[in-house]
Amino acid sequence: MLYIGLDLGTSGLKGLLVDKDGNIIKEENAQYSVSYPHDGWSEQNPADWLIACRRVLANLARGNETRIGGISFGGQMHGLVILDAQDTVIRPCILWNDGRTARETAYLNDIVGKEKLSAYTGNIAFAGFTAPKLLWLRENEPQNFARIAKIMLPKDYLAYMLTGTFSTDYSDASGTLLLDVRNKRWSDEMCEICHIRKEQLPQLYESYAVIGKPKPEYGLPNAIVTAGAGDNAAAAVGTGTVENGACNISLGTSGTLFIASDTVSVDEKNALHSFCHATGRWHLMGCILSAASANKWWLEEILKTDDYDAAVRGAENLCGCNNVFFLPYLMGERSPHNDVNARGAFIGLSASTTREECSLAVLEGVAFALRDCIEVACAGGATVARTAICGGGAKSALWKQIIADVLNMPVDVPKTEQGPAFGAAMLAMVGAGAYTSVQDAAAHIVQVRETVAPNSQTAQRYNEKYSRFRRLYPALRQAMQ
Ligand code: XUL
Repeated sequence: MLYIGLDLGTSGLKGLLVDKDGNIIKEENAQYSVSYPHDGWSEQNPADWLIACRRVLANLARGNETRIGGISFGGQMHGLVILDAQDTVIRPCILWNDGRTARETAYLNDIVGKEKLSAYTGNIAFAGFTAPKLLWLRENEPQNFARIAKIMLPKDYLAYMLTGTFSTDYSDASGTLLLDVRNKRWSDEMCEICHIRKEQLPQLYESYAVIGKPKPEYGLPNAIVTAGAGDNAAAAVGTGTVENGACNISLGTSGTLFIASDTVSVDEKNALHSFCHATGRWHLMGCILSAASANKWWLEEILKTDDYDAAVRGAENLCGCNNVFFLPYLMGERSPHNDVNARGAFIGLSASTTREECSLAVLEGVAFALRDCIEVACAGGATVARTAICGGGAKSALWKQIIADVLNMPVDVPKTEQGPAFGAAMLAMVGAGAYTSVQDAAAHIVQVRETVAPNSQTAQRYNEKYSRFRRLYPALRQAMQ
């Protein structure tokens, strides 16, 4: 049998057709756009996802329709998708990196209170989470709020269209701030605070649990569909980050640091997210809002080039001695600063600064921001000895080396860099019974292609640079408001 993993990303939908041993038989992509209706807002049309999904699915399955044994999803998290009683999408989805909910986030954290939120959900409010978006909608678009019959996350919309089952999984549900992460159930208190009813929320499943079969019109008679996972949990599965203490870094539009855990752990200030994992257990996660997207912005918008390698050619000799710093907060910042008003900056420019130094600073700034997250995790008791890596940014050899040096740890590059789509295919395999558990699937399938070792001299220089980097945001915070 063959399995399909679909990753509903921010820039496009990626799909993989994979066999039981993890060999990739076919790959398909479809792009769509993001709209930015105001500074700091971001939206997408679920209809565009659906067109992309149907096309990718049909192209992947063509000629193998009866051999498809399972389908699953990874998906961009936190987006608010709302349907009315006729299953019509009420308005465009408000995405994970949308910063419009500063007031609602402050209300949740300061008036309801972080202690209560943390007790109800294991987390505090961040602007991109789904709960503050519901409060924003009630205040700003009451007519839309009144029509809501179903609230779902982006990938759940695709699963609903594919199977007719109104479902979500625990990992993605964690990012709504409506889930009691410790007890894996919707929180009554949070539903009340957000003025919603439980019937409006999807049924909760484990990521590898079967939610149904594709509707007959898809022509895939032998496939089951499992609930899938948030893209970071799916990526962690795809890179084999499934055992306690294992770490994965995803360098996609966002950058995430994901630490798998057998128990629920919450850092002292809730600066990191404490979410359910797609394995049935939990994880701790830091999310920086601009990672590969910061590099894309710098190269394509500012330097007007699509030759990513040329922009940093020769820059490897500058690693550890670049005097330019870059703060990557182009869409505000989530972890650990939780500040929608934070903005990007170059610091340390002089008359002799070169283009290469600025380009290198962008890659370094993202690595330092990820180190900010790891520092919080380690201060809270986590021990991280090495990390896996995936995502578009992981294609750059220089960036992987910078990450290894800034974090001063080995970086394992899996054979398949397509973390979320590959992880989704593995969730489909578990649901279809090809493996007994997600851990079992990871042990059989995931292989490390190469390990990037830190260079001790550069790591020491980056350590000094990092101590300067971490003073920059506090020094500039007031000026950014
Ligand atoms: C995680 C997050 C992002 C999106 C990107 O909390 O917001 O990583 O899931 O797709």
